[in-house]
Amino acid sequence: MSNTVESLPANWYYDEAVFRREQKNIFEKNWTFIVDGAEVAQPGRFVTATIANQFIVIVRTLQGELNGFLNLCRHRASTICAEDNGSLTQFTCPYHAWSYDLDGILKNAPGFKMGEEVTPKKFSLIPIKVDIWNGLVFACLDRECASLESWLGDIVRIAKNYPAISEMTFEAKRSNEGSINWKNYSDNSAEGYHLPTIHPALNAALVSKQTRISAYENGRFVGFEVVYKDCDNDGEGSSQDDSSGFWIYKFPALLLHFSMNSFNIERVIPVNSQTTVMQRWFWFKPLIDKQQRKQAIEFSNQVMKEDIGICTRVQKNLEGGVYQTGLLSIQRESGAIFFQQCVKEALS
Ligand code: FES
Ligand SMILES: [Fe+2]
Repeated sequence: MSNTVESLPANWYYDEAVFRREQKNIFEKNWTFIVDGAEVAQPGRFVTATIANQFIVIVRTLQGELNGFLNLCRHRASTICAEDNGSLTQFTCPYHAWSYDLDGILKNAPGFKMGEEVTPKKFSLIPIKVDIWNGLVFACLDRECASLESWLGDIVRIAKNYPAISEMTFEAKRSNEGSINWKNYSDNSAEGYHLPTIHPALNAALVSKQTRISAYENGRFVGFEVVYKDCDNDGEGSSQDDSSGFWIYKFPALLLHFSMNSFNIERVIPVNSQTTVMQRWFWFKPLIDKQQRKQAIEFSNQVMKEDIGICTRVQKNLEGGVYQTGLLSIQRESGAIFFQQCVKEALS
């Protein structure tokens, strides 16, 4: 029996038609992490983002509900909010000033007879699904999708072993862009095979023999149970728990890093078939001081730089036309195998 699996065809990593199918079949159907809930805690606060290259807006109503809509005016398709975030009491389209309340109901369309030429029933904003888990706001374009909790599955249970976001303070957000296909980055994120070669410093910080990589929920996410050599509570009285961490790669494009002192989440945003943006948010327990926070974020930046570096080189060769397909090891790259399986299923 072979211990290898053929990898995805190279053209899936640059073909725009494949990319468009992925947007429809994968990114429109799964939940996407959008923002820290604290950013939309106050009545009237909104944030904008994209899912599958569609503009969306999330808003806290004046009554305290969290709503999500396509950021799409029903008149002539302008975005209704141009800013990344802010506060408002109603949406007023910047193009011709149609206005909507924070429940998305059309309130005014200057020059049109309300109730005759335009009706709120037909011309209100298009809602999307929004939910919060562990203080984090997620959204989904598919109104029929499973609940956020069931989509997260075992992640909800695993997160209970680590401090909740409410026990931590938000420190920073970082954004990087790579000239890479999102699956190239995901293949890389779902396996630990490259850890010693691409990330020597990260590898040295871990007790590598104790790293366990397992697939959960038929490969819908891959968990890396890690043990950090050097943690704040090491030395006398240290326990395994203090140094444990759990990294997750969740299909299609979400990374979560739990530890006893920090949490970070990374959203992978496919922009086009050869461009991907990676956004990271960092939280720390209050006992972690400024200097330690800075070091941890710099360390994460270094790992990101190493990953983008190798993925960019891979991308160039995938686009080169010589390499058609390769091999994945069941023993060393099971996470990437599961990830690619999920992609194939979604596109079939
Ligand atoms: S496009 Fe929004 S008011 Fe015209
Ligand atoms: Fe990596």
